Amino acid sequence: MDNWQIVEQDFRLEEALVNETLFALGNGYLGMRGTFEEGLGPAALEGVYINGFYESAPIIYGEKFQAFAENKQTILNLANAKLIRLRIGDEEFSLLSGKLLSYQRLLDLRTGVLRRSLQWESPQGKQIQLEVERLVLHTRRHVALIRYRLTPLNFDGPLTLLSGIDCAIRQSEHAENDPRLGTNFSGKVLRLQHKSFLGQAVVMVAHRTVTTGFTAVCGIRNVLDAPAACQAVDNDVMGFKYQIAARCGQPVTLDKIMVYVASFDAKAEPAVASIQTAEDELDAAAAAGWSALVAEQRDYLADFWDSADILIEGDDALQRGIRFNLFHLLQAVGRDERTNIAAKGLTGLGYEGHYFWDTEVYVLPFFLYTRPEISRDLLRYRYHILDKARQRARQMSHPRGALYSWRSINGEECSANFPTGTAQYHINADVAFAIRRYYDATGDADFMKSCGVEILCETARLWLDAGDFIPSRGGQFCINGVTGPDEYQILVNNNAYTNLMARENLRFAVQMVSWLRQADAAAYHALAEKIALQDAEPDAWREAAEKMYVPYDAERGIIPQDDAFLSKAVWDFAHTPRDHYPLLLHYHPLIVTRYQVCKQADLLLAEFLLHDQFERAQKLRDFAYYEPLTTHDSSLSGAIFGILAAELGDVDKAYRYFAETATLDLENKHGNTRAGIHAANMAGTWQGIVFGFGGMRAHDGLSFNPTIPAQWRAYAFKVRYRGRLLALRVTPDETRIELLSSEAIEVRLNGVPVRLD
Ligand code: BGC
Repeated sequence: MDNWQIVEQDFRLEEALVNETLFALGNGYLGMRGTFEEGLGPAALEGVYINGFYESAPIIYGEKFQAFAENKQTILNLANAKLIRLRIGDEEFSLLSGKLLSYQRLLDLRTGVLRRSLQWESPQGKQIQLEVERLVLHTRRHVALIRYRLTPLNFDGPLTLLSGIDCAIRQSEHAENDPRLGTNFSGKVLRLQHKSFLGQAVVMVAHRTVTTGFTAVCGIRNVLDAPAACQAVDNDVMGFKYQIAARCGQPVTLDKIMVYVASFDAKAEPAVASIQTAEDELDAAAAAGWSALVAEQRDYLADFWDSADILIEGDDALQRGIRFNLFHLLQAVGRDERTNIAAKGLTGLGYEGHYFWDTEVYVLPFFLYTRPEISRDLLRYRYHILDKARQRARQMSHPRGALYSWRSINGEECSANFPTGTAQYHINADVAFAIRRYYDATGDADFMKSCGVEILCETARLWLDAGDFIPSRGGQFCINGVTGPDEYQILVNNNAYTNLMARENLRFAVQMVSWLRQADAAAYHALAEKIALQDAEPDAWREAAEKMYVPYDAERGIIPQDDAFLSKAVWDFAHTPRDHYPLLLHYHPLIVTRYQVCKQADLLLAEFLLHDQFERAQKLRDFAYYEPLTTHDSSLSGAIFGILAAELGDVDKAYRYFAETATLDLENKHGNTRAGIHAANMAGTWQGIVFGFGGMRAHDGLSFNPTIPAQWRAYAFKVRYRGRLLALRVTPDETRIELLSSEAIEVRLNGVPVRLD
């Protein structure tokens, strides 16, 4: 099978929801679940999303305390423009009735086209052939296309095609006691604000959210290649009904252009500008024509794959798995500085469309080393919400600095559960770390001057206020009452990951403030004035960094995850039934947190990110200690363990982790892919190849220490670094590094400097 293709050979109703996620299409702005044009009744979860388009409502707490997050924000299912219903005489085409004679659905990762072809026999014995193609264009963020071609196979007779916009929108996939899903809204959240019909082809509707006041315009244009009687339809579905006298063996083709345009300006009334944009986009797409649009998409993706593709020779399933993951990351990532990448991309309502630290620690490296301009947009989003982070810091009684919200769309904290939400202060350091990586890989001084240094200062300030020099710890700087990445150990003192990453945040802020001062005195003074930066502040940050407390257990020779971790009993893994995982769905958080048990990589993540600050022997001991305690109940875990296993020389283990994560969504391994993809894990698999097997580390230069699993003949990847494009190919016998751009560079291969020119 072509390993650029994801193929579904049989239709199985019970897999419909998962497949809707897998076959979702998107372009970072617009996302559409892979539901069928004709629908599947309540068995389907229709979903069309615009990144950052949400409704908000007060969070209802039983007991509410000071500075709890006020409002939730939930991405919305928008009007469904995909709808095309077919009637053959008086029979409605549906996969839930009649007989499916053949069926195939194919997602072509190279061209970005989703195809469905099937033959179906109606209960009365009429047979049709159906070919449907769908695209969400990367080149025109508002535009998606469907080509719907049907051929009567054994009859002449009347057909009716209804192509429109379905405005009866279901919002929720809420489940009790599963925090990974979204929450319900009571009442209607989208109000119809505008509708218009033009000729026999164009429909335009606009909906407005009740609370946030956002407007989503959705438009369609139908082009039918057969003579038809046309009638407008205006109820829950708004569109046109075409009566066609079909002839046996003669295909009828309907091309449908769909556009979505959002306005986030709550004051604009009505959404005149958005409607105009939608009309212009429809016209422009129609003028370009189907073939040109398909070619645009193919060229865009060819360019993407040219630097992003990863080759794995000798394992088709994993090859397909990683390509699928990278394809979805591109589909999910916001590219406008205002939006980011949601934990579930634009494929479902899981986690309510929120952005987390997943972006900075997991997703960003993939874009940084393949499409650096996208990683800049992701970081500019953090700058865009910096004021919200400042406000959050004040709400949390920090007089200075900024505290990024744990989960949010517009930057305001939306986590209703502070122990695993707001308490994860490490997000500040994660953002700072991403900036460090970005600057190292791009040398983008403009970004640092306009945004980067300001974020570093504000996050550094926060640490100084969140922590203290504690006398009983020898005056060392301690950060108490936080939660680290591992959400099973809540509200701990001195989470090692947090302290280590905060130290890095402080050090980098000191370094970059002094750089700015020298590099651009005017920019420095402007910043110092804007944020009232005192000369003494960097000295205070340096002191906190130097005195940062990092727990250590001399007896075991390991770094405890936090102050209390080693004083707890080990979770009784032997008597925990397999179906009690993930633990978060079976035990109160207090039960779990009383034991040594981890949901995900925590200290080990710091040891990977800050790789040159630890001895190998330390990492080996820590890995051996934490691995048996980790359930990997979070999909963010396995990739990190795999990378570290590769670094520590256990290639078999690294391979097992990689194999587990590379097909996590394709094989629905966490059982919840129906609610959306796991974007962080997908990016983790890219890291598994590049940082894991490729052993790439980047900090003041690039180095590689490649290994290769016994199962593979070769693997290859490319990375962009400081304006260069490098290609690596690793086989069991050799590593070849090629410089694909002109300017020479020195890298280290297995510790030895190599000059590439
Ligand atoms: C993980 C977090 C992650 C979130 C969103 C949770 O299950 O524990 O680390 O940020 O999912 O992906």
